[in-house]
Amino acid sequence: MILPIYTFGQPVLRQVAEDITPDYPDLKELVANMYETLDASEGIGLAAPQVGLPIRVVVINLDLLSDDLPEYKGYVHTFINPHILEYDNAKMESMEEGCLSLPGIHEPVRRPTRIRVSYMDEDFQPHEEWVEGYLARVMQHEFDHLEGKMFIDRLAMLRKQMIRGKLSDLQRGKFRCDYKVKVKR
Ligand code: NI
Repeated sequence: MILPIYTFGQPVLRQVAEDITPDYPDLKELVANMYETLDASEGIGLAAPQVGLPIRVVVINLDLLSDDLPEYKGYVHTFINPHILEYDNAKMESMEEGCLSLPGIHEPVRRPTRIRVSYMDEDFQPHEEWVEGYLARVMQHEFDHLEGKMFIDRLAMLRKQMIRGKLSDLQRGKFRCDYKVKVKR
């Protein structure tokens, strides 16, 4: 089932999401729905708060980018209870980001290129690893959602001022996009 995507202005996007336990109701169905929603909106990552749930579940599908980045061919992964343990601030990189919860906004965001993360897979097996490259960027973007943060929070003051009008339009539902959304009323 395709779920509506909560857009900027929805309070759930500003909540810190909670860890879940294996008995979380209908988790498999939720994850399947999140992948379906991601496909329908042609996104590469989706965090549960973006479908209205303040829990730590993220799906990432980088297969879409594998024409340009062949190392991600078939890369489709679910992250349960992910946490960023460490940022390697030795190397930062700026890259344009967008977000399904911020339709129409694309801005360069500066982030570390390497992070250490912990998470569980769909079978609740724990993992801990260093991640780099494009995946590290996508993880930082998605895991930020679990802390109630969005990429616009990481922009320089001037860029933030420049998109103020767009953000206020988003908040009031004055925008168009080709996927199903849930705007705050
Ligand atoms: Ni996002």
